[in-house]
Amino acid sequence: MDHQDRFDATIAADQRIEPRDWMPEAYRRTLIRQIAQHAHSEIIGMQPEGNWITRAPSLRRKAILLAKVQDEAGHGMYLYAAAETLGVDREELTELLIAGKQKYSSIFNYPTPSYADVGVIGWLVDGAAICNQVPLCRCSYGPYARAMIRICKEESFHQRQGYELLMAMTSGTDAQRAMVQESVNRFWWPSLMMFGPPDDDSPNTAQSMAWNIKRHTNDELRQRFVDMTVPQAAALGVTLPDPGLRWNPERGKHDFTQPDWDEFMAVVKGSGPCNAQRVAHRKRAHDEGAWVREAASAYAAKRAGRAAA
Ligand code: 3HC
Repeated sequence: MDHQDRFDATIAADQRIEPRDWMPEAYRRTLIRQIAQHAHSEIIGMQPEGNWITRAPSLRRKAILLAKVQDEAGHGMYLYAAAETLGVDREELTELLIAGKQKYSSIFNYPTPSYADVGVIGWLVDGAAICNQVPLCRCSYGPYARAMIRICKEESFHQRQGYELLMAMTSGTDAQRAMVQESVNRFWWPSLMMFGPPDDDSPNTAQSMAWNIKRHTNDELRQRFVDMTVPQAAALGVTLPDPGLRWNPERGKHDFTQPDWDEFMAVVKGSGPCNAQRVAHRKRAHDEGAWVREAASAYAAKRAGRAAA
């Protein structure tokens, strides 16, 4: 049995590919592409909510938000570590991100002008992330799947804290309810875009499904997210801003309007409201952290030198 046959048999048996195993170069490249995008998204994703840490309305809300944003940094680290098992280096990936040669999720290119955005991001964005990431716990590439298991546990806390914040606001004043509705109106459509373009316009889905990287298509997970979110919106008393949204008894699912895919492509290509700001912030943090990386490398080299002596 040659390498390709052994790889194909492992995938067909729904078993895991590990870093030591032979893999087709295309499999390795698409995993680097997706895991890097995922890691970059976690790190860039710290910015929109981080914007509210100094202005949270209570110590409790500040502590919860600090914990969540800190979790996102950890998710980025797990995912860069998973990518590094494929022979790339996080420094190289970060430089590709800053140079605009690697992507991060479009959702983080939207502004967060209202404190209600902290709750809506937890509820909708982390909720969408959970829909997308739970199947990735069964991804065929071992390090990615195992990173996902821990990340998904923490995402559940992220989604619940956002929903709890919105429960508090929607049972508060009319002004608070209006703040939540206004935030939902801004974040609903970009949240649907998180699942990627329609399956017919997705160049990667078919191959990713064949390799058991993806377990469901973009449209399947988007539909799952809509069906999960509609009753939650009703419980909050907010309206999802889609006049075409309705239960379809024949399908046993909700019919809904597709997002504006031209807007999606424009944001992915760099023309979103906050793209330049997000990447500039990431570059500044990376540049300002250079001394820490250099000190850690010097310390590690000294320790290695002592151990070798
Ligand atoms: N934002 C930016 N780019 C996107 C995108 C989005 N929302 N959706 C798709 N794309 C890009 C893809 O990367 C691909 O471009 P590429 O070939 O240059 O990489 C192109 O659009 C076509 O999309 P495909 O559907 O063919 O690509 P994939 O098969 O990779 O599917 C995906 C896209 C569903 C996002 C998949 O990559 C994925 O599941 N990624 C991992 C999970 C992830 O990134 N989640 C979102 C961000 S993490 C997060 O939300 C953190 C949480 O704590 C809030």
